[in-house]
Amino acid sequence: MQVDRRARKPVKYARVSRKREVMIFYVCILNAKQGGAYMLSTSIDRIRKHIETFAGFNATPRIGCTRVSYSPQYRQAQDYLVRECEAAGLAVSIDAIGNIRARREGTAPGARAVLSGSHIDTVPHGGNYDGVAGVVGALEALTVLAENSISLSHPIELIVFVEEEGSVFGSTTAGSKALAGVYGVDDLKRLKDNEGKSFFDTAAEYGLDPAAIGRFRLDGEKIKAMVELHIEQSVVLESQGFPLGVVQAIAGIRQFSIELCGVANHAGATPMNLRNDPMAAASRIITFVEEAAAQKAFDTTVGTVGRIQCQPNVSNVIPGRVVFTVDARDVKPEGLETMDRLLRSEVKRVADEYGLTATVDLLGESRPITLSQNISGVIENAAINRNVSFLRMNSGAVHDACLLADITDVGMIFVPSAGGRSHVPEEFTTMEDIATGCDVLLDTLVELAR
Ligand code: HGY
Ligand code: MN
Ligand code: MN
Repeated sequence: MQVDRRARKPVKYARVSRKREVMIFYVCILNAKQGGAYMLSTSIDRIRKHIETFAGFNATPRIGCTRVSYSPQYRQAQDYLVRECEAAGLAVSIDAIGNIRARREGTAPGARAVLSGSHIDTVPHGGNYDGVAGVVGALEALTVLAENSISLSHPIELIVFVEEEGSVFGSTTAGSKALAGVYGVDDLKRLKDNEGKSFFDTAAEYGLDPAAIGRFRLDGEKIKAMVELHIEQSVVLESQGFPLGVVQAIAGIRQFSIELCGVANHAGATPMNLRNDPMAAASRIITFVEEAAAQKAFDTTVGTVGRIQCQPNVSNVIPGRVVFTVDARDVKPEGLETMDRLLRSEVKRVADEYGLTATVDLLGESRPITLSQNISGVIENAAINRNVSFLRMNSGAVHDACLLADITDVGMIFVPSAGGRSHVPEEFTTMEDIATGCDVLLDTLVELAR
């Protein structure tokens, strides 16, 4: 019987209960009858301008958007953002590895800050909205507050995390891991790019002082909350017809690098029984990753092999060395444990069978997190007040909000992704949906900072 390895129950997302939906509906009507409370609104034209400007800072304009950390395009985006933050009256600082902070002071001395932001780096050939939507949303909210001279007790800070995608050094959310104290100088020296240059040296060449990163560690005593606006990067909101998602939990991730070493040899002259072929072995393990995630772990587990390198990478030579990545994710911690265990045992089994040496390196990880119900409640009320329907849901993508959750109360707002596509040139979200998300973010920040 042909088993479809990918046959699996669709993951169910939490829906707002019917009772709650009815309540939301009546509150919306009530609010509309009262003509809606006086409401600030973000500017869709300014939002569009920012997003289109960021899209222009791109190393591959004909194939999606490529703006990796510390690249010339990244520097252009950073400089543009700093100028726009300063124009909005914010006090801007850039830390030891390039995380950006732009602060609007509050009226209450010593009040804890409300943070909002995301990232401006991309995957290679990615889209124009991943990360940028949340940075633009926070910038726009702070611009509207400045324009309307709104005084709030708590300071609000736009925060932009460097190397969120891990496109250069292989570990996602590296900037926020450093700010959360998960990564220190040793990690910055351990993580290396494809040419073997370290995160530490790259940041230093960019003009920063990575040795000082410990000084910038976030202090939970000085932070009241963090709210991140982000595109959903999947199909749930669009397929269920919701303009907004309120994120309840974010998947954890474990990123592995698997190295298999065998014996390079002549592709034609070497009999099959005399080979130690790491490419054939890798293909067995890669197939196993799909089966393990689809059938052996949990219905919320996903596993991906997105990158493979082979040496000497010549068609008529049996490879001597193959290196590939495994990206395992789950909102359940036990799903990550299961994938870790299954992967390590399969690599050992197959390497023994093929007479290879094998290493499994854990490049980076972040645990699954549950977001603050308090912040989610503020987001939901903001949506209700604007007559915006919403869905409570989980995030399969990881976000910098994961790392902030160990330091403060965190909430996330999702806006739909067209066709559920992301990390590809086809990534798209309408300006109207982004503006809706920005309006709800604005009201959420005002409520948290009042
Ligand atoms: O990989 C992720 O989930 C994120 O987009 N860095
Ligand atoms: Mn992102
Ligand atoms: Mn991403």
